[in-house]
Amino acid sequence: MTDLVVNGRPLRIAMDDATPLLWALRDGVNLTGTKYGCGNGDCGACTVLVDGAALRSCLVTLAEAEGREIVTIEGLSRDRSHPVQQALVAQGAIQCGFCTPGIAMAAAALLARNPDPAPPEIAAAIPHLCRCGVYSRLIAAVQQAARIAARAERVDAAPVPGIDPADAARALPALNPVGAPADD
Ligand code: FES
Ligand code: FES
Repeated sequence: MTDLVVNGRPLRIAMDDATPLLWALRDGVNLTGTKYGCGNGDCGACTVLVDGAALRSCLVTLAEAEGREIVTIEGLSRDRSHPVQQALVAQGAIQCGFCTPGIAMAAAALLARNPDPAPPEIAAAIPHLCRCGVYSRLIAAVQQAARIAARAERVDAAPVPGIDPADAARALPALNPVGAPADD
């Protein structure tokens, strides 16, 4: 049994204490925003906050996580309102999105300890692999996130997840059976 706090909730996880935190989060707690990329500590896709530090959860065992406070991408904000999330969207620094949760967590940890990082500091703090190649946009996004966090800049809120209800309503007539009476 491992006791830890995940996204503010105390949890007891009944898994072998040698289990990587990554799999405890994904399989034990169903927090699948944390991604499995390499499993070797190379890619950064699995990055979460452990007592505020950005760590690669594939390399942290449950035994090492005992008593720690874990924050995953699901806990960074409930509505994509964290400055890093806003800026990643605003800068288009997301393509397939697989690397994005890990990058967002590393960026959040960086800004928490350095509110105005220079590009080399950003590159050093987020040496993550992105097969889509968002690197230059990532630097711009973290700089913008710093400005948003400092209230020196505002951006339009990132869209909420899911289907826009207006789009869903427009799609409905196409689903009606042929010959069904049309709505007035
Ligand atoms: Fe952990 Fe790649 S899955 S660093
Ligand atoms: Fe696709 Fe980074 S956005 S891997």
